[in-house]
Amino acid sequence: MSFNALKEKGMPLEKQLRNWHQIAGKPYNKTDVDCYTRTRQILMNGIEVEAWNFHHTLGRLCPDIEDSKLIAQVCRIEDEQQTTINWMAPADQSVLETTLGYEQVAVDLTAWLAQNEPDDYVKETFDFGLLEDFDHLYRYSQWAYMMEGIKPNEIVQGQTDVILGRPTQNHHNCNALRRRKHYDKQTASPQTKVNILTLVSGEQQTHNYYAEHGFTYGNHVLRETYSEIKDVEEEHVTMYESLIDPTESLFEKLLVHEFTEVCNYYTCVEDETNEKIKKIWEMFLDFELGHLKIASELFKKYEKRDPEEVIGENIVIPCRFKSQKEYVTKILTSEIDKRLGTNMDYTKINKLPEDWASYKVQSAQAELGSPTENTIRIAALHNTRDIVEADEALKSRQVALLEKGLEKEALAEDTVMPDELQEMIDDYEEIKDKKEKMTK
Ligand SMILES: [Fe+2]
Ligand SMILES: [Fe+2]
Ligand SMILES: [Fe+2]
Ligand SMILES: [Fe+2]
Repeated sequence: MSFNALKEKGMPLEKQLRNWHQIAGKPYNKTDVDCYTRTRQILMNGIEVEAWNFHHTLGRLCPDIEDSKLIAQVCRIEDEQQTTINWMAPADQSVLETTLGYEQVAVDLTAWLAQNEPDDYVKETFDFGLLEDFDHLYRYSQWAYMMEGIKPNEIVQGQTDVILGRPTQNHHNCNALRRRKHYDKQTASPQTKVNILTLVSGEQQTHNYYAEHGFTYGNHVLRETYSEIKDVEEEHVTMYESLIDPTESLFEKLLVHEFTEVCNYYTCVEDETNEKIKKIWEMFLDFELGHLKIASELFKKYEKRDPEEVIGENIVIPCRFKSQKEYVTKILTSEIDKRLGTNMDYTKINKLPEDWASYKVQSAQAELGSPTENTIRIAALHNTRDIVEADEALKSRQVALLEKGLEKEALAEDTVMPDELQEMIDDYEEIKDKKEKMTK
């Protein structure tokens, strides 16, 4: 594939203003939307939120009045793009339905990025985070069923497995341990830069969504569950953003931001099946090529370097949404017991030192129990066992996975232990047999 974004004309900024009808747009229909149209919509909203935030930071720090005026104009367009994209979601899509969409984004996006990441350390970090969002999807799926009678496949459409991952109560770390080694701006590939910024944007928006919506349910345990998982998303932002070289100048960062937007819209245009939404991706790709032109002129002015040194000559593909069940199962079965090491590395549960800094965090936060563990106990009251959607081979390994993935230290009092989970599964099978006999 050959598409040099720097050589494209793009739409001039003065033509990017739209009217309110165009900005507010029309929502998709939640009953017939493809799950990967929804994941693109969720991700691109996050990309635009990050673009808007970054332009404001840049505007606040830019000493040149004329340049700051130009940045302010781009900033408004980023904001209008964000409205159009976020408001594609229909009013009748519940917070929990949207939440399952957010975690499907995290799982299938992170799995794609991990397999298309040239830097081994960055890939390992993606794989590490993947198993945490995978567990979030499973915990929230219990609530979608209990509160609204929604089976997870109504949202993920059979493309993403729903089963436990690294248990959420074990995701809480000392934030200092979450910090990773950053890439070197001189040698990192454009793919690495775009991959990381794409994921940071997605995770940041996931955090923001839970922060802004977790309180909208009256159920106290569900509120606590949102607060517990939101805290992990905060750690994910810390972890992924720490991979970025902090010595990149602001205008180098601007260039990477606009290029990341271009690459994501380019991928959306290639993959979109909804014709109306595809037209919006095409228009916004054109907008972003215009922004990239402005960013590269500012970069040349301040850095006196060629933008190609930073973003290369070719487009990269950061968000190809497709089913990743096979890859996720592979990482799940081999890395569920992985933990953050003390030297910005990774280790396994059985190699953790007694004074591992995250134990303190976990004990303090779970002093009165872990809401995501309580979630499974409450799900068993509703349904005899937890809600799981995965193929039989993976399901049959669930108890063994829990055994392998659960830390023995700092356990919450309400932890569902492997033998209890086995009991729930056995009871469920027994009741299922009885019900089947009754209907014969
Ligand atoms: Fe944008
Ligand atoms: Fe998550
Ligand atoms: Fe996450
Ligand atoms: Fe932009």
